[in-house]
Amino acid sequence: MHESTIWCERDHVFIIDQTLLPLECKRVEIRTCGEMWEAIRALRVRGAPAIGIAAAFGIWLGIRSSDCVLSGGLIEQIDQCCDYMATARPTAVNLFWAVERIRNLVHGHAGCVPEEIKELVLREAQSMIEEDNAVCLSIGRHGAGLVHDGCRVLTHCNAGGLATARYGTALAPVYYAMEKEGRKVHVYADETRPLLQGARLTAWELKQAGIPVTLICDNMAASVMRRGLIDIVIVGTDRVARNGDFANKIGTYGVAVLAHAHNIPFYAAAPLSSIDLTAADGAAIPIEERDPDEVTRIRGIQIAPDGIDVFNPAFDVTPCDYVTGFITEKGIARPPFDQSIPLLFQQPDFD
Ligand code: MRU
Repeated sequence: MHESTIWCERDHVFIIDQTLLPLECKRVEIRTCGEMWEAIRALRVRGAPAIGIAAAFGIWLGIRSSDCVLSGGLIEQIDQCCDYMATARPTAVNLFWAVERIRNLVHGHAGCVPEEIKELVLREAQSMIEEDNAVCLSIGRHGAGLVHDGCRVLTHCNAGGLATARYGTALAPVYYAMEKEGRKVHVYADETRPLLQGARLTAWELKQAGIPVTLICDNMAASVMRRGLIDIVIVGTDRVARNGDFANKIGTYGVAVLAHAHNIPFYAAAPLSSIDLTAADGAAIPIEERDPDEVTRIRGIQIAPDGIDVFNPAFDVTPCDYVTGFITEKGIARPPFDQSIPLLFQQPDFD
């Protein structure tokens, strides 16, 4: 497995620039809040949990050199950085979860001196990495029970280590089943147009980890299922609504419908930080629309006529009726989700 997606070394924040993968695995230092905003918007760092962690570091980068001598002034600056980071991308609720966590933290420590508050923000961002590792490992442990020896798993987009600090959500059960329980697992990765996260990232990270992976174009999933080659679908999510509707990379809904038609269990791996209890259902989830160039070009090469009309939603919503279960750090939530999802938040902790 690759080492990390985002990390801090002696007060320097680094990411792997995921836009360059798989051709180049380049570490890039992010020096300012503006650079972090751009890195999130441009998908240099991407995947819901990783975006949340990146936003927290972005806020720290925005105030680390502040010369505010009054904590009130510093907290005002932090609020501005929070508001700014929250505009980077709209769908992954982890971004807002992380931003509000930092905001609440500093407002709860208004009595501290500015240097202490800066240190608190940095430590909180760093602890998000450690927590994310523990959460993903727990998702892996709970999900591994679904992945039998010889299991063939289809996934869409990248919800592996690259989308989190390190271990991944949808791929965590695969890693866990193989590494900790010695089972053989084979992954089918949808390429995931338009930005090819499946081909560029999932295929890359599984290959790095020595896990057998077969890359397919998105439009091959139906045929692969019909041939009986898929035992289970596991995807990630950017936001789960209270009723179990959930947003994930565009194309996920189609995969869910196909899984249903072929009687294949369909799971979404979701840390609790990706669950939005304030969203009653999928209609409340904002869907990001991105630059038409992502559809008309592949890696800079034009593939469509000049001036063609394009629709480019980055995510879709899968209705809860198609979901077999959500694999979380606190166990697997099953239907009826409007009951099982809120219950997850009442459990004190996960092991
Ligand atoms: O646009 P992206 O690459 O950030 O989209 C990522 C996804 O859709 C992932 O499946 C989701 O964020 C879950 S990551 C654990």
